Amino acid sequence: MTRYHPALVILHWLLAVLIIVALIAGKLILDATPNSDPAKLFSLRAHMSIGLAVLVLMVLRVVIRWRSAAPPPADAGHPALNLAARLAHPALYLLIFGMVFSGIAISAAAGLPGIVFGGTGAPLPETFDSYAARGVHGALSGLLIALVALHVAAALWHQFIRRDGLMGRMRPGRR
Ligand code: HEM
Ligand code: HEM
Repeated sequence: MTRYHPALVILHWLLAVLIIVALIAGKLILDATPNSDPAKLFSLRAHMSIGLAVLVLMVLRVVIRWRSAAPPPADAGHPALNLAARLAHPALYLLIFGMVFSGIAISAAAGLPGIVFGGTGAPLPETFDSYAARGVHGALSGLLIALVALHVAAALWHQFIRRDGLMGRMRPGRR
């Protein structure tokens, strides 16, 4: 077993794109647009749709990951690095679910489904800052950005410095 299940490979890259877009647009557009700006509704609609797509695809990913055989853990050449990878991968899953559920919690607290998708015409609250879930969503997003950056750096280190062909495990193809 030298590769992940092909469905997991597709899901890995699809989710990587969706999550990176949600993180960058969340920080640079959503957080920077005041709720009084009419464009905010469009940004929220796009952001919440991407977030819910991430939820569905992540559930699928967890189910397939559970039911398929995965390659043995990669060897980074040092026990501490191997332990870091062992901790980082589940932490990525937890942070992603944490982002989705804290996002849904902001949405529920602020009545966003009706305002953003239901066309009730009701105004958005002045800000989301008074909702506890908004603080959690912002804090987790910082942690997720840091861990994704570390994950990408580790993948590139394996591929180009350690030269162990690790990226091949996340490439489609026969197993
Ligand atoms: C993987 C999934 C998600 C990611 C990566 C993500 C990312 C982000 C980021 C980076 C921000 C800006 C945070 C800040 O700078 O403090 C944000 C804000 C927000 N997100 Fe998400 N999000 C996700 C899912 C969701 C979901 C599912 C919902 C709702 C259904 C949601 C609703 C919101 C709302 C309402 C805000 C606040 C915008 C504001 O304060 O103006 N997010 N998100
Ligand atoms: C938001 C972005 C990303 C997330 C959330 C993410 C998440 C993950 C997770 C959770 C795993 C472990 C797979 C498992 O055991 O289920 C993994 C594996 C992997 N990722 Fe990512 N990833 C992201 C982006 C990237 C990028 C941009 C690269 C390449 C530069 C990359 C390269 C890899 C490789 C090569 C593996 C396989 C590692 C191994 O075989 O042990 N990932 N990724």
